Amino acid sequence: MKKNYDVIIIGAGPAGYVAAIRCAQLGLTTACIDKWLDDNKHPKLGGTCLNVGCIPSKALLESSEIYQQSGHSLAQHGIHIDSVSLDLKQMMDRKDNVVNTLTFGIESLFKSNKIDWIQGSATIEHSSQTKTDDLYNQTISVQLHNKKTSRFKSKNIIIATGSSPVNIPIAPVDNKYIVDSTGALAFDEVPKKLGIIGSGVIGLELGSVWQRLGAEVEIFEAQDTFLAFADEFIAKESLKLYLNQGLNIRLNTRLIKAEVIDDSVTIKFTDPQGEQTKVFDKLIVAVGRRPNSNGIFADETELVMDEGGLIHVNDKCETSLPGVYAIGDTVRGPMLAHKGSEEGLMVAELIAGNHRMVNYDLIPSVIYTHPELAWVGKTEQTLKANGIDYKVGTFPFAASGRAQAVNQTSGLVKIISDKKTDKILGVHILGSQASELIAQAVIAMEFGASSEDIALTMFAHPTFSEAFHEASLAVSGSALHITQRKTKK
Ligand code: FAD
Ligand code: NAI
Repeated sequence: MKKNYDVIIIGAGPAGYVAAIRCAQLGLTTACIDKWLDDNKHPKLGGTCLNVGCIPSKALLESSEIYQQSGHSLAQHGIHIDSVSLDLKQMMDRKDNVVNTLTFGIESLFKSNKIDWIQGSATIEHSSQTKTDDLYNQTISVQLHNKKTSRFKSKNIIIATGSSPVNIPIAPVDNKYIVDSTGALAFDEVPKKLGIIGSGVIGLELGSVWQRLGAEVEIFEAQDTFLAFADEFIAKESLKLYLNQGLNIRLNTRLIKAEVIDDSVTIKFTDPQGEQTKVFDKLIVAVGRRPNSNGIFADETELVMDEGGLIHVNDKCETSLPGVYAIGDTVRGPMLAHKGSEEGLMVAELIAGNHRMVNYDLIPSVIYTHPELAWVGKTEQTLKANGIDYKVGTFPFAASGRAQAVNQTSGLVKIISDKKTDKILGVHILGSQASELIAQAVIAMEFGASSEDIALTMFAHPTFSEAFHEASLAVSGSALHITQRKTKK
């Protein structure tokens, strides 16, 4: 292993490992330090996303959806299965195999790109405020998994240390009864009664998994608005669907205390009816994530951060220290894997002397429930608040031939465009293919498309994408498969 590098990346999640691959592709000598150990104490690449985040959650969402469909929905297709049974261990093993396949994949990409993988916990010892003659002026000490300490020098450092679940003292996580998202991906039996604190993305996705597998799920949300960051109309429509599915989402509910008593979790909370008590077999705490930025520097005062631990960066992800960049969940913006990866690509190019930027206005969001929620750009409420005039076109999947054929008719596509220029400002989709459909909205918006541009584009029939086409026609009142009051002359 070398001691001096052009770039050292701390963290091998989707922000860090992507940055490492691109740096190496660009001919920079690259090392990536990561401290992740799995349950068997094996070092693993991929960070939160691959090990305990995006990938295992989507594996369980898929398995649980198939299980639920086998038990309930197939009869509509004329398919009767006499008995459906759950082998949770096999379901978990499949999830673990998916994770292992992907993490080993990154390992081999690191090898083929000649990226040194340093296994241990990194601390930045010295970060020169002024450039010296020594180009390798950044020093990182690593507490290796074998307990030895090694020092490495680099011209550039990329901090990509990710985030961890927020812990609240009134609900102390023991990962047996009161669990965080990691614990909730690894229950060894389906809880009969499952409580969840927080109706954000994790609460909804993992709540869906366990509800489909048979748990009675109750979700306690402090805010009185459901999914406040999503388009209000879409959020309201999705809430109706979730409640219908049996996810008992209770808004405006404040947790007072959660404690483990006699192999179960008793929670005290207040809601508009007053103080109440409930007992659950397990409780998931999903109230947000916090950047892993504490302790990265031997001398913490050097780096400018905000109170929540977010590292301050400019639009090039440069920190307050020369040659030190920060990306992914450690910096402002949504905590999403693809946002971190794009920042990793940008920083790699900048270090190599090239140009690249991230379009922070067009970061797609997806919630992988059934149906899925996906959106990009502005919501109607933000446009209203900013006094921007807009037009809206919507199209329900119930009017789509393909959606009817595959029996996935819930939800709609909503396109918002500028009233004067018709430029698309936001696209919001609630529907079974929303995670895939949103990509065409992102592409259209990257190219500055108007709703008319989409309306004049040909879409294959029958497809879910036709709902995107019809919603664009609906912006001008000329959707074909729904009745609209206003028709374009
Ligand atoms: P991370 O993936 O957190 O990786 C950081 C890495 O840094 C870790 O490997 C850690 O070991 C390492 N590290 C930290 N400190 C040090 C140190 N001092 N020395 C060495 N190594 C260190 N996002 C999506 O876009 N789509 C999804 O579907 C999605 N699903 C999710 C589901 C769940 C249950 C969770 C919890 C998250 C999900 N996310 C999803 C969010 C996504 O996982 C994160 O946004 C993403 O992982 C952030 O990437 P990152 O590279 O910044 O950090
Ligand atoms: P979140 O920020 O999405 O939701 C947390 C929810 O908890 C909020 O609605 C908040 O109002 C509520 N809350 C906070 N304190 C509370 C309290 N004391 N009592 C009751 N409710 C309380 O955070 P979550 O779900 O933990 O997810 C963390 C992040 O992980 C997400 O913001 C997202 O960036 C990422 N993620 C992304 C996924 C995706 O892209 N599909 C999937 C899962 C996670």
